Amino acid sequence: MDPQSLSGIEEIDAQHKEIEETARAVIEAVAARDKWHVVHYILVRLYELLRFHFAVEESVMSIVSFPDIATHKQVHREILAMVERLKAASLDPQSCGHDETMETQFGFLTRIVDHDKSFDDFVVANIPGLRN
Ligand SMILES: [Fe+2]
Ligand SMILES: [Fe+2]
Repeated sequence: MDPQSLSGIEEIDAQHKEIEETARAVIEAVAARDKWHVVHYILVRLYELLRFHFAVEESVMSIVSFPDIATHKQVHREILAMVERLKAASLDPQSCGHDETMETQFGFLTRIVDHDKSFDDFVVANIPGLRN
């Protein structure tokens, strides 16, 4: 994981790391032209990791009264909707997620933690001692 992407909050960083690794596994499975069920299984895993992670972040946002919560939640909804679409598309053995358009979309997943910077800084500023 890019050190620039680390928030310094142990639990959040661990979740981001697992999400990034799983997103990379999707990209690699598509690049290797793995069978549709392999791609689908990893996308299901990615979706569940994201759903859990976003629920954690949104709970913390409420607790610390993060001012941009509505915008941040909207980004979460858009990412989940995109992964949901990919998950559904991967069920089609004909497409198998192997077209270039889908590879481009999978590429976006590796930057899934980028939108958290202002949230991480706000949380650290409002919960002293959280950053390692
Ligand atoms: Fe995040
Ligand atoms: Fe987020």
